[in-house]
Amino acid sequence: MSDTAGPAIGSTFPPGFFDRSDERDDAEFYGPPRLVQHIDDAAVAAVSAWYDEVGVDGDVLDLMSSWVSHLSTPPRHLTVLGMNAAELGSNTWAHERVVHDLNADPRLPFPDASFDTVVCTVSVDYLTSPVAVFRDVARVLRSGGRFALAFSNRCFPTKAVRGWLATDDAGHQRIVAAYFRASGAFAEPVVETRPSAGDPVFGVSATRR
Ligand SMILES: C[S@@+](CC[C@H](N)C(=O)[O-])C[C@H]1O[C@@H](n2cnc3c(N)ncnc32)[C@H](O)[C@@H]1O
Repeated sequence: MSDTAGPAIGSTFPPGFFDRSDERDDAEFYGPPRLVQHIDDAAVAAVSAWYDEVGVDGDVLDLMSSWVSHLSTPPRHLTVLGMNAAELGSNTWAHERVVHDLNADPRLPFPDASFDTVVCTVSVDYLTSPVAVFRDVARVLRSGGRFALAFSNRCFPTKAVRGWLATDDAGHQRIVAAYFRASGAFAEPVVETRPSAGDPVFGVSATRR
């Protein structure tokens, strides 16, 4: 277990929660570009509609991004952060592309109050220090800014943390809400199940305190 959240979190995330069956450097697994869609078309549409409702706009950070950011319209300025330069290079809406391993270093390479909104699509299950990442997302968000995470029931199982794999969709919603609460940096998270004609879509979002 490698989360640096502190002792108060110990009871929420038991020993082994953040272990993974593939503990190799993430750079190895994410080395080959995957220019694919990780959820079906209906789920992509549901994610975009949810981001519209949340109000993704202005200076936006897409965390754990790839070649597409699942927004319905290009924001004023889009920064994408992920593991694979070729994937990020193919993201035609991005103005800025950053390769950064959040499991090696959960600190975001951006100044305080850089963004209006941060999104993270179908990827939160791969974070081994999520509470530290959520805290740093709060740091880079402007006052009143929102962090919105969408996920489904699909994943790379060898890279998802064991705590995620051990539970179901409702459990995943509780986990993401617990990350927000444990960070101590956000208002109470809003947990949603979104209408989708395909893969299920869940959303958890909260406003920076
Ligand atoms: C299932 S893909 C989702 C990509 C994209 N968000 C989407 O919706 O299509 C998981 C993404 O998480 C990113 N990722 C995984 N581990 C990461 C890490 N340790 N640090 C930063 N990004 C990571 C990878 O670059 C990969 O693109």
